[in-house]
Amino acid sequence: MTVRAIVRAGDPLLARVAAPVADPAADAVVRLVGDMLDTLDVAQVAGIAAPQVGVSQRVVVYFVPPHRVSGEPGDEPIGMTVLVNPELHPVGEDTVTDWEGCLSLPNLRGRVPRWRRIRLVSFDLDGRRRERLLGGTHARIVQHECDHLDGRLYPSRMSDGASLGFVDELEAAGVLPARVPVRPKDYLKGEAALLARLARAGVNV
Ligand code: NI
Repeated sequence: MTVRAIVRAGDPLLARVAAPVADPAADAVVRLVGDMLDTLDVAQVAGIAAPQVGVSQRVVVYFVPPHRVSGEPGDEPIGMTVLVNPELHPVGEDTVTDWEGCLSLPNLRGRVPRWRRIRLVSFDLDGRRRERLLGGTHARIVQHECDHLDGRLYPSRMSDGASLGFVDELEAAGVLPARVPVRPKDYLKGEAALLARLARAGVNV
């Protein structure tokens, strides 16, 4: 498929509320996901939302690499996952503050409070509704990506704006954990239903 240009902060498209997908099982959605997978793989990050590739629709692609798992309940390594029309609801009132970055704000990191646990309802590319409880990093990644669908970027969630900084400066200061390289397409392995759906739409990844 196609590696797309990343839409960066300041573009009004990122501030827009994205439209719901009328038919999560449509081939057009699968082809969009194919482009998002290619773009994610080149960017070497754990998640991307459709508005970041210029499509204002409610689609997210992400995975949770083992080195980022927090040990919270509901947090575990997760293979490549597609969320169509996701809705999330906080479970309890606990929040956790940790570092985040975003493809649309290159080379920056900031500390962002997020709900510790959430309930997530979404559809997959076969149109199946799925509901699950998430915690820790898994819940954080999903909250970050779903914010993109509502026109929000992480700085607007920060309670301590002073933590915002450039990755290399924060690393030099010893306040950021060392980056671990990720190869996003490795996380497609074992995702049989997703791979089958991509193949049926003629999408090669
Ligand atoms: Ni982002």
